[in-house]
Amino acid sequence: MKSKPIRFPPQFLWGTATSAYQIEGSHDVDGRKPSIWDTFSKTPGRVTNGDTGDVATDSYRRVEEDVALLKQLGARAYRFSIAWPRVMPDGRGEVNPLGIAYYQRLVRLLSDAGITPMATLYHWDLPQALHDEGGWMQRRTAEDFARFAGVMFDALGESVPYWFTVNEPWCASFLSHAMGEHAPGERDLGRALTVAHHLLLGHGLAMTEFRKRKLGGQIGMAPNVDWREPYSQDRQDIAACERGLDWFNRWFIDPIYHGRYPANMFARYGELGLKPPILAGDMATISQAPDMLGINYYTGSYGMNRADPLPLRAQDDALTQIEALRNLSTANVPGFSKTDIGWDIFPEGFYKVLLWLRDEYGNPPLFITENGACDNALPGSDGQVHDAIRVEYQHRHVIALNRAMRSGCDIRGFMAWSLLDNFEWAHGYGKRFGLVHVDLETQTRTPKDSFHWYSQLIANNGCDA
Ligand code: FCB
Repeated sequence: MKSKPIRFPPQFLWGTATSAYQIEGSHDVDGRKPSIWDTFSKTPGRVTNGDTGDVATDSYRRVEEDVALLKQLGARAYRFSIAWPRVMPDGRGEVNPLGIAYYQRLVRLLSDAGITPMATLYHWDLPQALHDEGGWMQRRTAEDFARFAGVMFDALGESVPYWFTVNEPWCASFLSHAMGEHAPGERDLGRALTVAHHLLLGHGLAMTEFRKRKLGGQIGMAPNVDWREPYSQDRQDIAACERGLDWFNRWFIDPIYHGRYPANMFARYGELGLKPPILAGDMATISQAPDMLGINYYTGSYGMNRADPLPLRAQDDALTQIEALRNLSTANVPGFSKTDIGWDIFPEGFYKVLLWLRDEYGNPPLFITENGACDNALPGSDGQVHDAIRVEYQHRHVIALNRAMRSGCDIRGFMAWSLLDNFEWAHGYGKRFGLVHVDLETQTRTPKDSFHWYSQLIANNGCDA
C-alpha cells in the first residue's frame, strides 16, 4: 500500500542550525579573545583527541560558501549563534566593531539569499575574562549578558526577526558545573543551581532590553528537552517519569511560563540545603511573556522507577548526587537503536514532548531549534556520503513533528542540527552531525544523502509518510 504524503503549512520555516564556537574557528582573529570553551578544550583530558575550536570548520572565513550551501539546500531559515567574545572580547566594556561587522555581513548574505536569520545570543562561549571574575556564579554576569544582548539588538535590529537568548541552559549549568563534562568543568550541584538561576535571569534581562527597543522581531529561550515514556502503567514508573520531567524540562521552562520553579524538585534540592539565589523581582523578570519557545530535542526513552534508588544526600559529591537525582527520576530501559553518539532514537518521544509542552504551557508558539542525528558515515568510493542513519532519523522525526502539528501544537519552524559536521564539544570532531560532510584537512564540503533528502522535503514542503 502506498503511504500518504504529509504536508506542512506554506510559511513553515525549514532550516538548519549551528553555533559559533563549533564552526567559526579564527579564534584569535580580528580582536576575538578566549571563551571558557577555548580554555577548556586546551586543558588536557577534557576533549577527546585534544580537539579544539581554533580552526573548526573555518566558517568565519568561509561564510559565503556556507550561505551558498544553505541556498543550495533551499533553506528558508538559518539559526546561528553570536560569539560574545568576538563582539565584547572582555565580556563587558569595549565593543569590537570587527566582531559586529562579521555578523552584519552574515545577516546581509542570508537576507540577500532569501534566508531568514535566527540568532542565538548564548551558545556556551562565555568570555574567559568574565569567568575569571566568577562567571555565571555572579549575578553580574546576567547583567553583562543583557548588555551584550542590547549591543546586538542595536547592531542587527529588525534584520534578525527571531532571537534566542540562551541555548540549552541545562547543559550550561548542570552538565558544565555539576557533571564536569562541559566548560568550565566544575563538579558542584549547588553551583550548578546558582548558574541555572543566573542563566534564567540573563534570559529575562535580555528580554527587558529587547522590549525596551520596541523591535518588531520575536524572542524566546531555547532549552533542551527529552522525554521519558513510562515503561508501564505501574504508578511507580509514571511517578518516576514525572520526576524526570521536573529535573530536566520543567526546571527551566516553568520559571519562564509559570514564574516559579517546579515545587517538588525545589523541595528536593532543599533537602540537600540547596536553593537558587532568587532575589525580589527575579521571577517576574524571568517570566515576562516571551514571543515563542525554541525546543532542542534529540533523544528520549522508556523510563522506569529503579528498585534500588540511591539516597540523595548532602554529604555526597556532585556526581553521586546527580546519579541519585537520575535514580529518583528514571532508569532508562534498554532496547533502542542508537545514533553514532550512543543516544537512543525515540521519535515517539518527540511527538509526546510536543504534546506535553502544548498542555503544560498553554500551547506556546514553538520553533524546533535543534533536532538531528550523529551519523559518522564518510565519503564512499563514489564520493558520496550515504548517511542512512541520519536520513531515517530525520524522516521519523519529521513525521512526529507533523503528527504534533495535526494535534494542534503551534509549531512554526524546524532547524536541523546541523548544517556542517563540526566541533561536537567534549567529543571533538569525531562525532558528525552535519548534513554536509567537512573534510577537516582541506575544509572541503560535501553534501550528504541527508542534505539531498532534506532539500527535497523543503522543496515539496513535505514527504512520504
Ligand atoms: C546540543 C547542542 C548543540 C550540538 C548538539 C548535538 O546539545 O546545543 O550545540 O552539540 O547538541
